[in-house]
Amino acid sequence: MNRTVLVTGGAGFIGSNLVDVLLERGYQVSILDDLSTGSTRNISHNLGNPRLSFIEKDINDISPVDLQGVDAVFHLAARVNVVDSIADPMEDARVNYNGTLNVLERCREAGIKKVLFTSSAAVYGDVEEVPTTEDASKEPLSPYGNHKYASGNLLRLYNQIHGMKNVIFRLFNVYGPRQDPSNPYSGVISKFMEWASKDQELTIFGDGGQTRDFVYVKDVAASLIMAYEKDIEGTFNVGTGSETSLDHLANTVIDVTGSKSSIVHREKRAGEIYRSCCLNKKLKSSLGWAPDTSIKEGLSKYHLTLTFNYTRVSKLGYRDTLDK
Ligand SMILES: NC(=O)c1ccc[n+]([C@@H]2O[C@H](COP(=O)([O-])OP(=O)(O)OC[C@H]3O[C@@H](n4cnc5c(N)ncnc54)[C@H](O)[C@@H]3O)[C@@H](O)[C@H]2O)c1
Repeated sequence: MNRTVLVTGGAGFIGSNLVDVLLERGYQVSILDDLSTGSTRNISHNLGNPRLSFIEKDINDISPVDLQGVDAVFHLAARVNVVDSIADPMEDARVNYNGTLNVLERCREAGIKKVLFTSSAAVYGDVEEVPTTEDASKEPLSPYGNHKYASGNLLRLYNQIHGMKNVIFRLFNVYGPRQDPSNPYSGVISKFMEWASKDQELTIFGDGGQTRDFVYVKDVAASLIMAYEKDIEGTFNVGTGSETSLDHLANTVIDVTGSKSSIVHREKRAGEIYRSCCLNKKLKSSLGWAPDTSIKEGLSKYHLTLTFNYTRVSKLGYRDTLDK
């Protein structure tokens, strides 16, 4: 694919996995990232690639030069820590709302018609409708969820007012290689994997029946790229459409890692939602996309990347979906 794209947040967990697939598919890729939570470690295996460039910058400082020759922007840069967003909503708004507005404005000025934005299931809050459709009520429980929702509305407005063809992806629980377990708020899977690798107890807050829709990062990357290549626009849930309970997850982690860990249940945490799962019909029918990595398969691949050099296995898991 002889196209040039900019990936904001491309040094982060999902962004760096997306960049791997874009380079595999022949794209010219620029990463713009301020390295606040991302790291050049996540992209070091690609830094010698002549089709990759890296700009260390805040999304609020994007200039016309950064967008020269760019056909589309994958906008992933964000502050992703929900707890921090409650502690410092102004900073969350600066990055997650104003930053998105700045990306959109610079794209409009540069004549770029497509921004593909990673929003979140957090826009729905504790919604009654599970599995959740894109039209379900939106009652976010944090500034993070609120700014993601407001930013999605900006993209939609730019489609209406400026004739752009932007895409809003509401990602559910993404997991896979390069998810950072040292981050105190990182996903439950990276924590379970770390504890299991040390044969430590896997702690579940609550009765273990609470569910999440865990989607493998390469399936997410595939959906983003297909949306660009098929030139769709609009708002789409990205998830498997299947609920996995935390008890099942913990047992599967123990199984794939061969760990001697046991599972303990502790008192449930306040404010945690019980069920989360999306209806992904809209994306499936628009793209022919299928999240074809099962939880066991995804955990096994993730485990492999923790055990062996990531680059040896980084090609697993997306080709089938993309080439359909
Ligand atoms: N991980 C998930 O399960 C999940 C779920 C829903 C939505 N998302 C969304 O997906 C995107 C990627 O999340 P992730 O899990 O890879 O997190 P991440 O923290 O690994 O990635 C975010 C990246 O953005 C960069 N960044 C942050 N602020 C920036 C700024 N002001 N300017 C430039 N770069 C900046 C960080 O350095 C990092 O590389 C985010 O938009 C997030 O809201 C993630």
